[in-house]
Amino acid sequence: MDMKTEIAARTQAAEQIIKQYLPIEEGYQKTVIEAMNYSVLAGGKRLRPILMLETYRMFGGRSKVIEPFMAAMEMIHTYSLVHDDLPAMDNDEFRRGKKTTHAKYGEAMGILAGDGLLNYAFETATKAFEIEPENSNIGRALQVLASKAGIHGMLGGQCVDVESEGKEVTEEVLQFIDKLKTAALLESSMMIGAILAGATKNEQKIVEQAARELGLAFQIQDDILDVTSSTEVLGKPVGSDEKNHKTTYVTLKGLEASAKEVEERSKHSVELLSSLVVKNEFLTNLMMELVHRKK
Ligand code: IPE
Ligand code: IPE
Ligand code: MG
Ligand code: MG
Ligand code: MG
Repeated sequence: MDMKTEIAARTQAAEQIIKQYLPIEEGYQKTVIEAMNYSVLAGGKRLRPILMLETYRMFGGRSKVIEPFMAAMEMIHTYSLVHDDLPAMDNDEFRRGKKTTHAKYGEAMGILAGDGLLNYAFETATKAFEIEPENSNIGRALQVLASKAGIHGMLGGQCVDVESEGKEVTEEVLQFIDKLKTAALLESSMMIGAILAGATKNEQKIVEQAARELGLAFQIQDDILDVTSSTEVLGKPVGSDEKNHKTTYVTLKGLEASAKEVEERSKHSVELLSSLVVKNEFLTNLMMELVHRKK
């Protein structure tokens, strides 16, 4: 399997699906819609929709019911980035190779575009009912989408992240932050794929654990790249964590131990998935590829 080609094809496919669900730029409120679409269309790896679709396929899912959820997930993820970059948060001016939303449209529009994306994500996800009105798994998928993004998920992690700036943070608290701010949306992505394909409760649990390990590895790699990469490669500023006095796995344990942790957690994640009877070779390959990702 040529992973480079396979990933490119899936990214393109996810891109097409996301585009289909974006709002039309019209009306007196046109500016906020433009800012929303600008943020989503700026690019990005589309990792979460890809993970969702591949988990769905792994459990035998074949319908288009997954598509509105893929788009919704990318909207929620993008909103989290738009708000993460705001002056009151990480105060960054570059994202996905372009100006951040607030840098281009002003701070008020940055806030509103984030709010707009969060709302529109749910409006979009409920379109799954138009595709499969009788599918009761859609309700459960919506519940996961909501809870993993909120106070017990991404948003909760962001709260502790900003409150911890400039303070000494224990490994336990740091893991709490990463589990919520980053792993929660990966858990949500993979769980929704499993749920919509009709996976059992036990299978959903294993998928959740695998995604959590992957998410923790993903954030540690993000922290490594913040120190070792360049703005050109990442499409976002390096040194953002130092600027904001963040404790990260890198500041706590050093680069070498961090790289080891990424590798180990990714391996563990793949092991967890491999304990299932269903298989998806592309998915497990992708999870291991992320260990050495450069962006
Ligand atoms: C960035 O996520 C935020 C983190 C959780 C580290 P990605 O690295 O997936 O960002 P995009 O979507 O590719 O821009
Ligand atoms: C991101 O953490 C977590 C989010 C929920 C957005 P970071 O603040 O490290 O993400 P980047 O590095 O800005 O993408
Ligand atoms: Mg941040
Ligand atoms: Mg940030
Ligand atoms: Mg970062």
